[in-house]
Amino acid sequence: PVLVVDFGAQYAQLIARRVREARIYSEVIPHTATIEEIQAKNPVALILSGGPASVYADDAPGLDPAMLTLGLPAFGICYGYQAMAAGLGGVVANTGGREFGRTTLSVTGESVLHAGLPGTQPVWMSHNDAVQQPPEGFTVTASTPGAPVAAFENLERHMAGVQYHPEVMHTPHGQQVLTRFLYEIAGLEPSWTPANIAESLIEQVREQVGDGQAICGLSGGVDSAVAAALVQRAIGDRLTCVFVDHGLLRAGEREQVQTDFVAATGARLVTVDAEETFLRELSGQTDPETKRKIIGREFIRSFEGAVTEVLDGSEGTVDFLVQGTLYPDVVESGGGSGTANIKSHHNVGGLPEDLEFTLVEPLRLLFKDEVRAVGRELGLPEEIVARQPFPGPGLAIRIVGEVTAERLETLRAADRIAREELTAAGLDSTIWQCPVVLLADVRSVGVQGDGRTYGHPIVLRPVSSEDAMTADWTRVPYETLELISTRITNEVSDVNRVVLDVTSKPPGTIEWE
Ligand code: XMP
Repeated sequence: PVLVVDFGAQYAQLIARRVREARIYSEVIPHTATIEEIQAKNPVALILSGGPASVYADDAPGLDPAMLTLGLPAFGICYGYQAMAAGLGGVVANTGGREFGRTTLSVTGESVLHAGLPGTQPVWMSHNDAVQQPPEGFTVTASTPGAPVAAFENLERHMAGVQYHPEVMHTPHGQQVLTRFLYEIAGLEPSWTPANIAESLIEQVREQVGDGQAICGLSGGVDSAVAAALVQRAIGDRLTCVFVDHGLLRAGEREQVQTDFVAATGARLVTVDAEETFLRELSGQTDPETKRKIIGREFIRSFEGAVTEVLDGSEGTVDFLVQGTLYPDVVESGGGSGTANIKSHHNVGGLPEDLEFTLVEPLRLLFKDEVRAVGRELGLPEEIVARQPFPGPGLAIRIVGEVTAERLETLRAADRIAREELTAAGLDSTIWQCPVVLLADVRSVGVQGDGRTYGHPIVLRPVSSEDAMTADWTRVPYETLELISTRITNEVSDVNRVVLDVTSKPPGTIEWE
C-alpha cells in the first residue's frame, strides 16, 4: 500500500481516501510506527500527513529520519512537508507568515507535480511555520504570499512536498496534484479497482475461513449485504445468513432481502419471523428508550434462536461470524486486529456467550463508497447498494406513542408514498434520509370528503448530511411536498395532515425518538 503516516491531524483518513480515488491502495499508519512495522506493510510509497504541531515544538510528533532513507517515494503534506524538509536537512522556521484558509499558489519553476495545472491556483493552507530552505537536491516549485517555499520536489529520489492541503475540497486541483505525485513522481500504476478489490477480498476470506462454517446477520443495510455477498462468493453454502423480520420494517424491505439479495448472491438465508413477539413485548410502551431496549433485547433473542437452529442443523460447528465493519471504525478504534473481539459482537445484536466466534470482517479496510462499488461489482441490485440509512429499531422509533400493528400499517403506507415521490423527483442522492413519522398520540380536526375527521399527523423529516453527526433539513421543492401531502391524505386512512420538520441537527436529532 501507499502508507499515510498520521501525524495527528484529522486529514490522514481523507488522504488515504484520495489516494484510493486515484485507484491505488492506501492505508493509514500512526507516526509512532517503527521502521520495522512500516517495512512489514510492504509500502510502495509514504505520505506524511499534516499535523497540529510545530516541527520544533517539544512535543512535536517525531519523524524518524530513517523513514526517508528506505528508498521509498515520499510526499509531505503541511506538517509532514515541514517534517520532511527538516528531516532531510532543510530549514523550517516560524517566519510569521502564517496562513489559514484559502490562499493563492503560484507555480514558480519547472514542476512535475503541478504540470498541466494553472500557474496560479487557489489552495487551502493552515500553518504557522514555513520551510525557508529546501533540503539539498530539492527544487522549489511554488510559492504563496506567506510561504515562499510552498512546494518542492526531487525527481531522482521520487520525493515531493507541499505546504498546502491537496486532500481537501477547498484545493480544487488537489486531487490532480496528489495523483501526479502517485503516477509521475512515485511511478505507481492504478490497480485498486472494484474488480480487483472484490477478487482479493474473496481470496482473503477463503484463506481465513478454510473449510469452516460462517454466519452473518443481515440488516437490510448496505454493509452487511456486501459483506455477506463477498463471503458467499468465497465459501458458498458454508455461509448462512440470518435475517430477523421484527415487523418494524418498511414496505418491501423483507422482499428486498429475501428475493433480491438471494437472487443476486444465491446465499443461504434463514428468516426469523418475530413480528408477533416484538409487538407483544412492545405493547403498552411509549417511552423511546424503553422501546429501543426492548427491541435490542428481542433482536438478540431472535438471532440467538436462529444461530442455535443453524447449529442443530449442521454437522460441525459455526466458527466464524461475518460483520460489515468499515475502515473508518477500524481507524477510529485504533486499528485493532481482526480476531475475536467480544465487544464487536454487539454490533449484530449479541450472541450466546458460550459460543466462540472468530470475526470475519471483509470490509474492514474499505470506505463506504468502495463498499458500494464492490457491491455493484458483485451484482447486488441498486436498491440495496444505494440504500439510504435506516435505523435498526425500524419504524418503532418513528411512531411517537405505542407501537401497534395498525399504526405500523398506517406509517408503512405513508412512508412508501413519500419514498416513491422523492425517488420520482430525483432526490435520492440529495437527501441523506427522510424519516416519515407518525404522531400516534396527536389528533387534529380535518375535513375530508363531506365530513369532519379527527386523524393523526404525519411528519416528513428530509435531511441532508455527510455522516449523520450533523444534518440540515433538505429544501425539497414545494411541488414534491404537495404531491406527497396530497397522496398521503388521500390514500392513507386515519391521516388528515402532513407537516414538514424544518429543524437542523443539532438541535433536533434525525429520528424523532
Ligand atoms: P439520530 O436520530 O441520532 O440518528 O440523529 C443518526 C443516524 O443514526 C440512525 N439511527 C440508528 N441506526 N440503530 C441504527 O442502526 C439505531 O438504533 C439508530 N438510531 C438512529 C438514524 O437513522 C440516522 O441515520
